[in-house]
Amino acid sequence: MSELILHPHVIKQAQEELDAVVGADRMVGESDLPKLHYLQAIVKETFRTHPPVPLSLPRESTHATRALGYDLPKHTRQILNLFAIHRDPDVYENPDNFDPDRFLEKHQEVDHMSGYGSYQLMPFGVGRRMCPGYQLGDMVVHVVLGNLLHSFDWSLPKGGSMEGFDMTEVMSIVVGRKTPLHLVGTPRLLLNEQFTQDKGRFTHETESP
Ligand code: HEM
Repeated sequence: MSELILHPHVIKQAQEELDAVVGADRMVGESDLPKLHYLQAIVKETFRTHPPVPLSLPRESTHATRALGYDLPKHTRQILNLFAIHRDPDVYENPDNFDPDRFLEKHQEVDHMSGYGSYQLMPFGVGRRMCPGYQLGDMVVHVVLGNLLHSFDWSLPKGGSMEGFDMTEVMSIVVGRKTPLHLVGTPRLLLNEQFTQDKGRFTHETESP
């Protein structure tokens, strides 16, 4: 949501796709996800630029090997810097730019869920030590983000400014924002008759949690 508020054209494009695929009278469900290609690209670009777990769990080599010109003796402890791999300028053009379109164009074949063979994007890690919750995690992120974008228009609270918008992250096992993100969500769906009647109550700004 932090990147999206900085890139309103991405929100607009996602909402156009959601309106076309899901429609304004219901929320996003798991079965919609295969058709929401732009939403998938947003999630991939978010995982690329802000991997929730930026360093893989430690591994230890079971035998001596050689990689990238380095000799790695048996029992070498290895930690993959997923954050750095995701921003490799030899792989991604302008790697620090948030640009979901790259996953619909040049990098559309990238499969962040494969665990093997697709090493440009590994938000769930890789190999046998890969995140065992990857399917649940990936699905929840898509459904929650899809519904946030489908159900609400988003803006900064009154008096908020994009200037100096804080994107500082705090490093731990899981990375998060240093300061809370405060956004205003304005309902944009007509879910049912009751909601339609209630809608008048919600047209004033409601601050998100
Ligand atoms: C967006 C959501 C999630 C992300 C980005 C994520 C990412 C990761 C990453 C990068 C690792 C390290 C993998 C490696 O070193 O190769 C990991 C490990 C792990 N994850 Fe997740 N994860 C997510 C959700 C979940 C969920 C929903 C569960 C459980 C229901 C889960 C359970 C675990 C466990 C138990 C490990 C340790 C596996 C081991 O030590 O072998 N994760 N996760």
